[in-house]
Amino acid sequence: MAGNLAQPLVGRNPFCAHAGSPSFQPRIAPGRTPLLIMSLVCFPFKEEDVAVVLRNLECAASHPAVTGILCVGYSRGETWCAIENAKPLLEKSCNVRVVLIQQKRYGNALRGGKGDGMNTALGYFLEHPEYTRIHFYDADIVSFSGEWITKAEKQADLGYDVVRHYFPRSSTDAMITWFVTKVGFALLWPRTVLPEIEQPLGGELLLTKRAVEVLFNDHRVRAQSDWGIDTLYTFVAAQNGLSLSEVYISEGKIHALYGGLRDLRTMLVECFSAIQSLKNENVPVGGIHRMEAAKSVPEVVKQKVGYDIEKTLKLLKSNWTPRQRELLHQHFDSALVKGLLNASEWPCWSFADEDCWIGAYQKFLENFEKGDDDWEELLFKVWVCRVLNHTVRNVLRGYDAAMGSLRDFVWDVIQKSSTQQFKLGSFPALHSLASGHSAVESLANGQGKLRKKPKWELNPDMCTVQQ
Ligand code: DGY
Repeated sequence: MAGNLAQPLVGRNPFCAHAGSPSFQPRIAPGRTPLLIMSLVCFPFKEEDVAVVLRNLECAASHPAVTGILCVGYSRGETWCAIENAKPLLEKSCNVRVVLIQQKRYGNALRGGKGDGMNTALGYFLEHPEYTRIHFYDADIVSFSGEWITKAEKQADLGYDVVRHYFPRSSTDAMITWFVTKVGFALLWPRTVLPEIEQPLGGELLLTKRAVEVLFNDHRVRAQSDWGIDTLYTFVAAQNGLSLSEVYISEGKIHALYGGLRDLRTMLVECFSAIQSLKNENVPVGGIHRMEAAKSVPEVVKQKVGYDIEKTLKLLKSNWTPRQRELLHQHFDSALVKGLLNASEWPCWSFADEDCWIGAYQKFLENFEKGDDDWEELLFKVWVCRVLNHTVRNVLRGYDAAMGSLRDFVWDVIQKSSTQQFKLGSFPALHSLASGHSAVESLANGQGKLRKKPKWELNPDMCTVQQ
């Protein structure tokens, strides 16, 4: 950890019945003027289990640091009505303001989804200057508790601009996080804080006013109305040098999971496309990042299978078009082409190892076209093979081996990509936080050179080609 944190803040909810609770002890840094902390907790929601949502609202509303609850609805359905009905009693019993709004349309070029919901909350927050911090929590989390709020508040009291919650996750869950976001960050910005962020797509986080101003004033953030929003929040925060603390929630995030990997197709495409849209951007090297150590993972999380394997196998055979085959031949190397075409006849995935994925990832970064169904389907199929390969090669060896292989993979990409950038002279000294480096200038050259040698060995030819 390096650099200066923003001025620590301190205060407590003056209106809440629980303001004097001994469980919340705001800190006062010596010599600092105490500032009043008034936190707003936002729950974006669609149609959820109403009992879970109402329990979570009450839990947040009872927290001593919280003076407002903001429920941002995707639509006005049953969950909306239940919140509307519960609102008067909640306001009275917890002495908080409860606001229910429908999400606005900010990013007109993309599908209206999670991004519009979160950005609606940021817009509301800035229009209400009495609030100093905003928290986000998914409304459907069964294991949510006031402790989540307390942990985040404590880090913000120390002056961190952004606090993210992270959780133990199944070794077959988080497959977009690992193979798209973390690998993409490692490949493109290996010397920055980005690939080290444990759960960069997590929807549970605290933002200080400074962080909200940075994010909401960025047109790329407001335009990202879909699943790509988490990538944008994480990226723009790092690009602007906001300090980050990650807190560990040991009980895990227990919420509704998905069936086959098909359920994640839209999210995959939108998260990848968000990374692709940023590939020419500079990010300062280093950054302030603190992380609470993880504890031992609960058995229930270790044993959970994150997706339905049988349903997933069928996906490899379906939705093929002649153009997908053409694109495959045109852009990808022969091992991948052969492997994926075999998979179109009979499920197979052994070709989709880590090297294959990195090679393909770079081709997708160069050529992928969002909105083109054949490109989207190819990305999806290659990713499905990567996930199956990980499941059969690593997950079968046990939880620790599986998680170890994911971490090793990202670490390996960071190492190789950093080395490559050093050779190219395309990034500045580590301590130079003010300067950035462009990711794409130091990427493999698109001719598949990175994969000339197996296992990511640095290819000196590539460096000279790039100069
Ligand atoms: C991820 O990859 O993190 C998505 O939430 C799907 O699990």
